[in-house]
Amino acid sequence: MEPLSRRNILKAGTIGALGAAVPARTWTWSPQGSVAGQGVGADPRWVWDPEADALVADLIERGDVPQVNALLRTWKKNGQALPDGLPADLRDFMEYARRLPSWADQEQLATAVRFNEKRGLYLGVLYGLASGMMSTVIPKEALAVYYSQGGADMKDRISKTAKLGYDIGSVNAYQPDGEMIVTAVKTRLVHAAVRHLLPQSPHWTPVAEEDIPISQADIMVTWHSLPTTVMRKLTDWKVPIPADESQAFLHSWQVGAHLLGVKDEYIPNSWAQANSQAEQVLDPVLRATPEGVKLADILLHLGAAIDAGILTKPILGAFTRFMLGDEIAGWLRIPREPVWDPLLRTAWGPFVAVREGLLPFPLAPKAYWLFDEFLRKFALLYLSQARPISIEIPVTNRPE
Ligand code: HEM
Repeated sequence: MEPLSRRNILKAGTIGALGAAVPARTWTWSPQGSVAGQGVGADPRWVWDPEADALVADLIERGDVPQVNALLRTWKKNGQALPDGLPADLRDFMEYARRLPSWADQEQLATAVRFNEKRGLYLGVLYGLASGMMSTVIPKEALAVYYSQGGADMKDRISKTAKLGYDIGSVNAYQPDGEMIVTAVKTRLVHAAVRHLLPQSPHWTPVAEEDIPISQADIMVTWHSLPTTVMRKLTDWKVPIPADESQAFLHSWQVGAHLLGVKDEYIPNSWAQANSQAEQVLDPVLRATPEGVKLADILLHLGAAIDAGILTKPILGAFTRFMLGDEIAGWLRIPREPVWDPLLRTAWGPFVAVREGLLPFPLAPKAYWLFDEFLRKFALLYLSQARPISIEIPVTNRPE
Protein backbone atom coordinates (compact mmCIF):
# COMPACT_ATOMS: atom_id res chain seq x y z
CA MET A 1 0.00 0.00 0.00
CA GLU A 2 1.20 3.50 -0.76
CA PRO A 3 2.19 5.30 2.46
CA LEU A 4 -0.36 7.68 3.86
CA SER A 5 0.36 11.26 2.93
CA ARG A 6 -1.58 14.42 2.46
CA ARG A 7 -0.71 14.09 -1.21
CA ASN A 8 -2.27 10.61 -1.45
CA ILE A 9 -5.22 11.62 0.62
CA LEU A 10 -5.90 14.64 -1.51
CA LYS A 11 -5.45 12.53 -4.63
CA ALA A 12 -7.91 10.00 -3.32
CA GLY A 13 -10.22 12.74 -2.12
CA THR A 14 -10.58 11.08 1.27
CA ILE A 15 -9.38 13.78 3.57
CA GLY A 16 -12.75 14.05 5.27
CA ALA A 17 -12.59 10.37 6.11
CA LEU A 18 -9.09 10.57 7.53
CA GLY A 19 -10.09 9.96 11.11
CA ALA A 20 -12.15 6.94 10.21
CA ALA A 21 -9.57 5.54 7.81
CA VAL A 22 -6.54 5.66 10.09
CA PRO A 23 -7.77 5.75 13.67
CA ALA A 24 -4.36 4.76 15.08
CA ARG A 25 -2.79 7.93 13.78
CA THR A 26 -5.58 10.35 14.50
CA TRP A 27 -4.72 13.13 16.91
CA THR A 28 -7.06 12.70 19.85
CA TRP A 29 -5.24 14.67 22.52
CA SER A 30 -7.57 17.31 23.93
CA PRO A 31 -6.62 21.01 23.93
CA GLN A 32 -8.13 21.17 27.42
CA GLY A 33 -4.88 19.67 28.68
CA SER A 34 -2.82 22.37 27.00
CA VAL A 35 -1.32 25.58 28.34
CA ALA A 36 -4.08 27.39 26.44
CA GLY A 37 -6.73 25.25 28.14
CA GLN A 38 -8.80 25.30 24.96
CA GLY A 39 -8.43 25.30 21.22
CA VAL A 40 -10.15 24.79 17.94
CA GLY A 41 -8.85 21.23 17.96
CA ALA A 42 -7.40 21.28 14.43
CA ASP A 43 -5.31 18.17 13.85
CA PRO A 44 -1.70 19.46 14.16
CA ARG A 45 -0.44 17.00 11.57
CA TRP A 46 -1.89 19.41 9.03
CA VAL A 47 -0.78 22.60 10.76
CA TRP A 48 2.67 24.01 10.04
CA ASP A 49 3.76 27.59 10.79
CA PRO A 50 1.81 29.86 8.45
CA GLU A 51 3.27 33.03 9.94
CA ALA A 52 6.87 32.01 9.28
CA ASP A 53 6.55 29.67 6.30
CA ALA A 54 5.35 32.09 3.63
CA LEU A 55 7.79 34.74 4.79
CA VAL A 56 10.86 32.49 4.75
CA ALA A 57 9.89 30.90 1.42
CA ASP A 58 9.75 34.41 0.02
CA LEU A 59 13.15 35.33 1.51
CA ILE A 60 14.68 32.28 -0.17
CA GLU A 61 13.04 33.03 -3.50
CA ARG A 62 14.07 36.70 -3.32
CA GLY A 63 17.69 35.66 -2.69
CA ASP A 64 17.77 37.56 0.61
CA VAL A 65 18.94 34.71 2.83
CA PRO A 66 22.76 35.10 2.61
CA GLN A 67 22.48 38.75 3.60
CA VAL A 68 19.96 37.95 6.35
CA ASN A 69 22.23 35.22 7.75
CA ALA A 70 25.18 37.61 7.77
CA LEU A 71 23.16 40.22 9.65
CA LEU A 72 21.69 37.71 12.11
CA ARG A 73 25.17 36.42 13.05
CA THR A 74 25.45 39.57 15.18
CA TRP A 75 22.09 38.97 16.90
CA LYS A 76 23.02 36.82 19.91
CA LYS A 77 21.35 37.97 23.12
CA ASN A 78 17.66 37.90 23.97
CA GLY A 79 17.59 41.55 24.93
CA GLN A 80 19.59 42.76 21.92
CA ALA A 81 17.92 44.94 19.29
CA LEU A 82 17.57 43.31 15.88
CA PRO A 83 20.35 44.38 13.51
CA ASP A 84 19.67 47.20 11.08
CA GLY A 85 19.18 46.28 7.46
CA LEU A 86 16.84 43.28 7.85
CA PRO A 87 13.97 43.17 5.35
CA ALA A 88 10.97 44.89 6.94
CA ASP A 89 8.67 41.85 6.78
CA LEU A 90 11.26 39.65 8.49
CA ARG A 91 11.95 42.27 11.14
CA ASP A 92 8.23 42.59 11.94
CA PHE A 93 7.87 38.84 12.26
CA MET A 94 10.92 38.48 14.48
CA GLU A 95 9.82 41.29 16.78
CA TYR A 96 6.55 39.40 17.20
CA ALA A 97 8.14 35.93 17.48
CA ARG A 98 10.69 36.91 20.14
CA ARG A 99 8.06 37.91 22.72
CA LEU A 100 7.61 35.54 25.65
CA PRO A 101 4.08 34.19 25.99
CA SER A 102 1.83 35.94 28.52
CA TRP A 103 1.85 32.76 30.64
CA ALA A 104 5.67 32.67 31.00
CA ASP A 105 6.43 32.66 34.71
CA GLN A 106 9.76 34.22 35.67
CA GLU A 107 9.80 32.54 39.05
CA GLN A 108 9.44 29.11 37.48
CA LEU A 109 12.09 29.94 34.90
CA ALA A 110 14.45 30.83 37.76
CA THR A 111 13.65 27.52 39.48
CA ALA A 112 14.39 25.74 36.20
CA VAL A 113 17.87 27.21 36.33
CA ARG A 114 18.38 25.62 39.75
CA PHE A 115 17.19 22.28 38.40
CA ASN A 116 19.52 22.52 35.41
CA GLU A 117 22.47 23.38 37.61
CA LYS A 118 21.82 20.52 40.00
CA ARG A 119 21.13 17.98 37.27
CA GLY A 120 23.55 19.17 34.60
CA LEU A 121 25.60 15.98 34.65
CA TYR A 122 22.63 13.74 33.97
CA LEU A 123 21.15 16.20 31.48
CA GLY A 124 24.25 16.06 29.24
CA VAL A 125 23.98 12.32 28.74
CA LEU A 126 20.19 12.35 28.58
CA TYR A 127 19.88 15.08 25.93
CA GLY A 128 22.91 13.80 24.05
CA LEU A 129 22.22 10.07 24.06
CA ALA A 130 18.61 9.41 25.08
CA SER A 131 17.06 12.30 23.10
CA GLY A 132 19.74 12.39 20.41
CA MET A 133 19.59 8.68 19.64
CA MET A 134 15.81 8.63 19.90
CA SER A 135 15.65 11.29 17.19
CA THR A 136 17.17 8.74 14.80
CA VAL A 137 14.19 6.40 15.27
CA ILE A 138 11.60 9.14 14.79
CA PRO A 139 11.24 8.41 11.07
CA LYS A 140 10.02 11.80 9.90
CA GLU A 141 12.75 13.61 11.80
CA ALA A 142 15.48 11.24 10.65
CA LEU A 143 14.42 11.67 7.02
CA ALA A 144 14.16 15.45 7.27
CA VAL A 145 17.54 15.73 8.94
CA TYR A 146 19.24 13.33 6.56
CA TYR A 147 18.03 14.98 3.35
CA SER A 148 18.36 18.58 4.49
CA GLN A 149 21.56 20.56 4.20
CA GLY A 150 22.66 19.80 7.76
CA GLY A 151 22.41 16.04 7.22
CA ALA A 152 25.66 16.10 5.28
CA ASP A 153 27.62 17.45 8.26
CA MET A 154 26.28 15.82 11.38
CA LYS A 155 28.98 17.16 13.65
CA ASP A 156 28.05 20.72 12.78
CA ARG A 157 24.37 19.91 13.12
CA ILE A 158 24.86 18.34 16.52
CA SER A 159 26.72 21.45 17.66
CA LYS A 160 23.75 23.56 16.68
CA THR A 161 21.24 21.27 18.34
CA ALA A 162 23.41 21.04 21.47
CA LYS A 163 23.34 24.83 21.54
CA LEU A 164 19.60 24.73 22.11
CA GLY A 165 19.98 22.20 24.96
CA TYR A 166 22.71 24.37 26.42
CA ASP A 167 20.85 27.66 26.04
CA ILE A 168 17.62 26.39 27.57
CA GLY A 169 19.56 25.13 30.59
CA SER A 170 21.85 28.09 31.07
CA VAL A 171 21.55 30.53 33.95
CA ASN A 172 20.12 33.36 31.89
CA ALA A 173 18.19 31.28 29.40
CA TYR A 174 15.23 33.60 28.93
CA GLN A 175 16.73 36.72 30.50
CA PRO A 176 17.85 39.68 28.36
CA ASP A 177 21.49 38.53 28.54
CA GLY A 178 20.63 34.89 27.75
CA GLU A 179 20.40 33.32 24.29
CA MET A 180 17.46 30.90 24.29
CA ILE A 181 14.96 33.27 22.70
CA VAL A 182 17.41 34.03 19.89
CA THR A 183 18.17 30.34 19.35
CA ALA A 184 14.49 29.40 19.30
CA VAL A 185 13.46 32.19 16.90
CA LYS A 186 16.35 31.35 14.54
CA THR A 187 15.38 27.67 14.71
CA ARG A 188 11.80 28.61 13.85
CA LEU A 189 13.13 30.32 10.72
CA VAL A 190 15.30 27.29 9.88
CA HIS A 191 12.31 24.95 10.18
CA ALA A 192 10.29 27.24 7.90
CA ALA A 193 13.12 27.12 5.34
CA VAL A 194 13.22 23.32 5.53
CA ARG A 195 9.47 23.19 4.81
CA HIS A 196 10.11 25.15 1.62
CA LEU A 197 13.30 23.37 0.53
CA LEU A 198 12.85 19.68 1.32
CA PRO A 199 9.85 19.14 -0.96
CA GLN A 200 12.15 20.29 -3.80
CA SER A 201 14.70 17.54 -3.06
CA PRO A 202 14.56 14.69 -5.57
CA HIS A 203 15.24 12.30 -2.66
CA TRP A 204 12.39 13.56 -0.56
CA THR A 205 9.36 12.64 -2.64
CA PRO A 206 10.09 8.90 -2.93
CA VAL A 207 10.83 8.38 0.79
CA ALA A 208 8.64 10.91 2.58
CA GLU A 209 5.16 10.12 3.74
CA GLU A 210 4.19 13.75 3.37
CA ASP A 211 4.60 16.77 1.15
CA ILE A 212 5.54 19.32 3.75
CA PRO A 213 7.73 18.30 6.71
CA ILE A 214 7.84 19.56 10.32
CA SER A 215 4.16 19.91 11.19
CA GLN A 216 3.12 21.12 14.63
CA ALA A 217 2.50 17.48 15.55
CA ASP A 218 6.03 16.55 14.43
CA ILE A 219 7.51 19.29 16.59
CA MET A 220 5.66 17.96 19.61
CA VAL A 221 6.88 14.42 18.85
CA THR A 222 10.46 15.68 18.90
CA TRP A 223 9.70 17.79 21.96
CA HIS A 224 8.72 14.59 23.80
CA SER A 225 12.03 13.02 22.84
CA LEU A 226 13.56 15.87 24.83
CA PRO A 227 11.97 16.92 28.17
CA THR A 228 9.42 14.10 28.44
CA THR A 229 12.05 11.42 27.77
CA VAL A 230 14.55 13.11 30.10
CA MET A 231 12.00 13.24 32.92
CA ARG A 232 10.93 9.64 32.30
CA LYS A 233 14.55 8.51 32.63
CA LEU A 234 15.29 10.59 35.72
CA THR A 235 12.17 9.09 37.30
CA ASP A 236 13.19 5.53 36.28
CA TRP A 237 16.58 6.16 37.82
CA LYS A 238 14.91 7.36 41.03
CA VAL A 239 16.75 10.67 40.99
CA PRO A 240 14.98 12.73 43.65
CA ILE A 241 13.51 15.87 42.12
CA PRO A 242 11.46 18.34 44.17
CA ALA A 243 8.02 18.95 42.64
CA ASP A 244 8.68 22.65 42.01
CA GLU A 245 11.88 21.87 40.09
CA SER A 246 10.18 19.21 37.99
CA GLN A 247 7.36 21.63 37.16
CA ALA A 248 9.86 24.40 36.40
CA PHE A 249 11.83 22.20 34.01
CA LEU A 250 8.58 21.48 32.19
CA HIS A 251 7.77 25.17 32.13
CA SER A 252 11.08 26.11 30.54
CA TRP A 253 10.29 23.64 27.73
CA GLN A 254 6.71 24.85 27.39
CA VAL A 255 8.06 28.35 26.76
CA GLY A 256 10.61 26.82 24.38
CA ALA A 257 7.86 25.11 22.36
CA HIS A 258 5.93 28.38 22.12
CA LEU A 259 9.01 30.21 20.84
CA LEU A 260 9.57 27.46 18.25
CA GLY A 261 6.16 28.38 16.88
CA VAL A 262 4.03 25.63 18.43
CA LYS A 263 0.49 26.82 19.11
CA ASP A 264 -0.37 26.94 22.80
CA GLU A 265 -3.26 24.53 22.31
CA TYR A 266 -0.81 21.72 21.52
CA ILE A 267 1.59 22.33 24.44
CA PRO A 268 0.79 20.10 27.46
CA ASN A 269 0.04 21.92 30.70
CA SER A 270 1.43 19.26 33.09
CA TRP A 271 3.66 16.19 33.15
CA ALA A 272 0.58 14.00 33.27
CA GLN A 273 -0.67 15.64 30.08
CA ALA A 274 2.80 15.50 28.52
CA ASN A 275 3.03 11.79 29.24
CA SER A 276 -0.41 11.13 27.85
CA GLN A 277 0.39 13.08 24.67
CA ALA A 278 3.74 11.26 24.33
CA GLU A 279 2.02 7.89 24.65
CA GLN A 280 -0.20 8.88 21.75
CA VAL A 281 2.27 10.58 19.46
CA LEU A 282 5.84 9.54 20.31
CA ASP A 283 5.88 5.93 21.48
CA PRO A 284 3.89 4.47 18.54
CA VAL A 285 5.88 6.22 15.78
CA LEU A 286 9.36 5.00 16.75
CA ARG A 287 10.81 2.82 14.01
CA ALA A 288 14.04 2.27 12.09
CA THR A 289 14.77 3.81 8.70
CA PRO A 290 17.97 3.37 6.64
CA GLU A 291 18.60 7.11 7.07
CA GLY A 292 18.12 6.93 10.86
CA VAL A 293 20.49 3.97 11.15
CA LYS A 294 23.17 5.94 9.29
CA LEU A 295 22.64 9.00 11.48
CA ALA A 296 22.84 6.87 14.65
CA ASP A 297 26.10 5.33 13.49
CA ILE A 298 27.59 8.78 12.93
CA LEU A 299 26.46 9.87 16.40
CA LEU A 300 28.00 6.82 18.05
CA HIS A 301 31.35 7.50 16.39
CA LEU A 302 31.52 11.16 17.35
CA GLY A 303 32.51 10.56 20.98
CA ALA A 304 35.57 8.51 20.12
CA ALA A 305 36.79 11.21 17.75
CA ILE A 306 37.00 13.54 20.73
CA ASP A 307 37.86 11.24 23.60
CA ALA A 308 39.32 7.89 22.69
CA GLY A 309 39.32 6.82 26.35
CA ILE A 310 35.83 6.53 27.70
CA LEU A 311 33.51 7.86 25.04
CA THR A 312 34.12 4.99 22.66
CA LYS A 313 31.48 3.58 20.36
CA PRO A 314 30.96 0.41 22.49
CA ILE A 315 30.30 2.44 25.63
CA LEU A 316 28.02 4.94 23.90
CA GLY A 317 26.22 2.00 22.29
CA ALA A 318 25.79 0.21 25.63
CA PHE A 319 24.45 3.40 27.18
CA THR A 320 22.00 3.81 24.33
CA ARG A 321 20.78 0.24 24.79
CA PHE A 322 20.47 0.78 28.52
CA MET A 323 18.41 3.95 28.10
CA LEU A 324 16.30 3.16 25.06
CA GLY A 325 16.00 -0.63 25.40
CA ASP A 326 16.90 -3.71 23.38
CA GLU A 327 14.33 -3.16 20.66
CA ILE A 328 15.58 0.29 19.63
CA ALA A 329 19.22 -0.82 20.04
CA GLY A 330 18.42 -3.70 17.68
CA TRP A 331 16.88 -1.39 15.09
CA LEU A 332 20.00 0.76 15.22
CA ARG A 333 22.21 -2.35 14.90
CA ILE A 334 24.04 -1.54 18.11
CA PRO A 335 26.05 -4.63 19.07
CA ARG A 336 25.62 -6.20 22.49
CA GLU A 337 28.49 -5.38 24.86
CA PRO A 338 29.39 -8.31 27.14
CA VAL A 339 31.01 -6.12 29.81
CA TRP A 340 29.12 -2.86 29.63
CA ASP A 341 25.56 -4.10 29.16
CA PRO A 342 25.42 -6.18 32.38
CA LEU A 343 27.43 -3.60 34.29
CA LEU A 344 24.94 -0.85 33.46
CA ARG A 345 22.01 -3.10 34.29
CA THR A 346 23.33 -4.04 37.71
CA ALA A 347 25.38 -1.09 38.86
CA TRP A 348 23.68 2.03 37.44
CA GLY A 349 20.83 1.97 40.00
CA PRO A 350 23.18 1.74 43.02
CA PHE A 351 25.46 4.34 41.42
CA VAL A 352 22.63 6.86 41.17
CA ALA A 353 21.53 6.03 44.73
CA VAL A 354 25.04 6.64 46.07
CA ARG A 355 25.43 9.80 44.03
CA GLU A 356 22.14 11.12 45.33
CA GLY A 357 23.08 10.29 48.93
CA LEU A 358 20.38 7.62 49.18
CA LEU A 359 22.90 4.83 49.83
CA PRO A 360 25.79 5.37 52.22
CA PHE A 361 28.61 3.60 50.36
CA PRO A 362 29.46 2.86 46.78
CA LEU A 363 28.55 -0.78 46.31
CA ALA A 364 30.79 -1.09 43.31
CA PRO A 365 33.54 1.49 43.64
CA LYS A 366 35.12 0.76 40.27
CA ALA A 367 31.84 1.03 38.39
CA TYR A 368 31.00 4.12 40.41
CA TRP A 369 34.20 5.80 39.27
CA LEU A 370 33.69 4.78 35.67
CA PHE A 371 30.11 6.00 35.57
CA ASP A 372 30.96 9.29 37.21
CA GLU A 373 33.79 9.82 34.78
CA PHE A 374 31.50 8.96 31.90
CA LEU A 375 28.88 11.48 33.01
CA ARG A 376 31.51 14.19 33.39
CA LYS A 377 33.18 13.48 30.06
CA PHE A 378 29.86 13.36 28.29
CA ALA A 379 28.64 16.60 29.84
CA LEU A 380 31.91 18.24 28.78
CA LEU A 381 31.60 16.85 25.28
CA TYR A 382 28.02 18.03 25.09
CA LEU A 383 28.86 21.51 26.31
CA SER A 384 31.93 21.80 24.13
CA GLN A 385 29.71 21.12 21.13
CA ALA A 386 27.66 24.18 22.00
CA ARG A 387 30.62 26.46 21.37
CA PRO A 388 29.77 29.88 19.96
CA ILE A 389 27.96 28.86 16.86
CA SER A 390 25.53 30.54 14.57
CA ILE A 391 22.27 28.92 13.52
CA GLU A 392 21.73 29.88 9.90
CA ILE A 393 18.82 29.65 7.48
CA PRO A 394 19.68 27.03 4.84
CA VAL A 395 19.22 27.74 1.14
CA THR A 396 19.78 24.21 -0.15
CA ASN A 397 19.12 20.59 0.71
CA ARG A 398 21.74 17.91 1.30
CA PRO A 399 24.20 18.16 -1.59
CA GLU A 400 23.81 15.35 -4.14
C1 HEM B 1 17.14 22.49 12.51
C2 HEM B 1 15.85 22.04 17.15
C3 HEM B 1 11.88 19.70 15.70
C4 HEM B 1 14.07 18.92 11.48
C5 HEM B 1 17.08 22.65 13.87
C6 HEM B 1 17.98 23.45 14.66
C7 HEM B 1 17.64 23.29 15.96
C8 HEM B 1 16.51 22.41 16.01
C9 HEM B 1 18.33 23.92 17.18
C10 HEM B 1 19.06 24.34 14.12
C11 HEM B 1 20.26 23.55 13.90
C12 HEM B 1 20.62 23.42 12.48
O1 HEM B 1 20.49 24.39 11.74
O2 HEM B 1 21.05 22.33 12.11
C13 HEM B 1 14.61 21.42 17.15
C14 HEM B 1 13.77 21.26 18.32
C15 HEM B 1 12.64 20.63 17.91
C16 HEM B 1 12.79 20.36 16.50
C17 HEM B 1 14.13 21.72 19.73
C18 HEM B 1 11.41 20.22 18.69
C19 HEM B 1 11.18 20.55 19.94
C20 HEM B 1 12.15 19.23 14.45
C21 HEM B 1 11.34 18.29 13.71
C22 HEM B 1 11.97 18.07 12.52
C23 HEM B 1 13.17 18.86 12.51
C24 HEM B 1 10.04 17.71 14.20
C25 HEM B 1 11.57 17.18 11.37
C26 HEM B 1 10.51 16.42 11.34
C27 HEM B 1 15.06 19.85 11.37
C28 HEM B 1 15.85 20.08 10.17
C29 HEM B 1 16.72 21.13 10.46
C30 HEM B 1 16.45 21.52 11.83
C31 HEM B 1 15.72 19.30 8.88
C32 HEM B 1 17.70 21.80 9.51
C33 HEM B 1 18.93 21.05 9.31
C34 HEM B 1 19.82 21.79 8.33
O3 HEM B 1 19.60 21.68 7.14
O4 HEM B 1 20.72 22.44 8.77
N1 HEM B 1 16.18 22.05 14.71
N2 HEM B 1 13.99 20.87 16.08
N3 HEM B 1 13.25 19.56 13.68
N4 HEM B 1 15.45 20.74 12.34
FE1 HEM B 1 14.68 20.86 14.17
